[in-house]
Amino acid sequence: MKRIGLLTSGGDAPGMNAAIRAVVRTAIYYGMEVYGIERGYAGLIEDTMYEMQMRSVSDIVQRGGTKLRTARCLEMLTADGQKQAVSTLEKHGIEGLVVIGGDGSFRGAKCLTENYGIPTIGIPGTIDNDLEYTDYTLGFDTAVNTCLDIINKLRDTMTSHERISVVEVMGRHCGDIALYAGITSGAEIIVVPEIAYDMEDIVMRINRSRANGKRSNIIVIAEGVMGADAFVKQLQEVTTYSVRATTIGHIQRGGSPSMADRMLAAQFGNKAVRLLKDGIGNRVVGIRKNEIIDMDIIEAVSMKKKFNYELYETLQMISM
Ligand code: F6P
Repeated sequence: MKRIGLLTSGGDAPGMNAAIRAVVRTAIYYGMEVYGIERGYAGLIEDTMYEMQMRSVSDIVQRGGTKLRTARCLEMLTADGQKQAVSTLEKHGIEGLVVIGGDGSFRGAKCLTENYGIPTIGIPGTIDNDLEYTDYTLGFDTAVNTCLDIINKLRDTMTSHERISVVEVMGRHCGDIALYAGITSGAEIIVVPEIAYDMEDIVMRINRSRANGKRSNIIVIAEGVMGADAFVKQLQEVTTYSVRATTIGHIQRGGSPSMADRMLAAQFGNKAVRLLKDGIGNRVVGIRKNEIIDMDIIEAVSMKKKFNYELYETLQMISM
């Protein structure tokens, strides 16, 4: 394979830039040309791309966001959009495509592979960690660390005022950000889309912790359940402790990637290009039990994300 395309798609995630760098540098190492497609599939449909050189990816390993910019492109789910995307690839003689993104972005890649035979490789880039085939997605670690930073600060003021803090983190369908941020911040309670919450049980846990000498409580709620304000309204009706809402929002999507995310980016990007170089497409790369793996893209997108109940129980046992 002589010429490949590269795009980032869906919600951006810290580490996307580091992955772009790894893809470009690995491709150049193997004597391949890389075309950077701007604004995800929208850019592919509109034909917005340029050839990337060694120095095109200088000074980005440490930056959040994505140099190639990104978009959520519904047109890519239509036959017309896909045909247009394929014709852009053909026009530029692009033989394989690397897609950095989440579930929706992989579905676009799957269509190109399945319907048009374009070899594609998916790199999991989303803060949500909602892909079952990989233990971690790019950006998740940094996002959780950003949440931790904020929750640490909240704990200071909540303890001073003996309050309860309800902190909303991202995750429409997947509670992993809430779960990991909850466990590692010492939150007493997490509320996630995967488990129906019981307000009586929450109040009981809060009261028990106060009886045990606790001066504040942190509840981390995933956005998919409801907003922090709505939850505070419900909780304030059944507790006399003062409750405050904080929504972390898009802050958790930005910032310099952590070591863990930069390392994943280097390995994922490198692996993706090695696969294409060997003429292998229709795969996604990931990490399982600390090993970089690749698997069939169609199989990967069909897997349903499982919630880690064991971690949830751990939180319940140690946060009191
Ligand atoms: O998919 C990543 C994500 O950050 C989700 O956690 C969140 O629900 C969504 O994107 C927000 O999307 P947008 O930036 O388009 O509002």
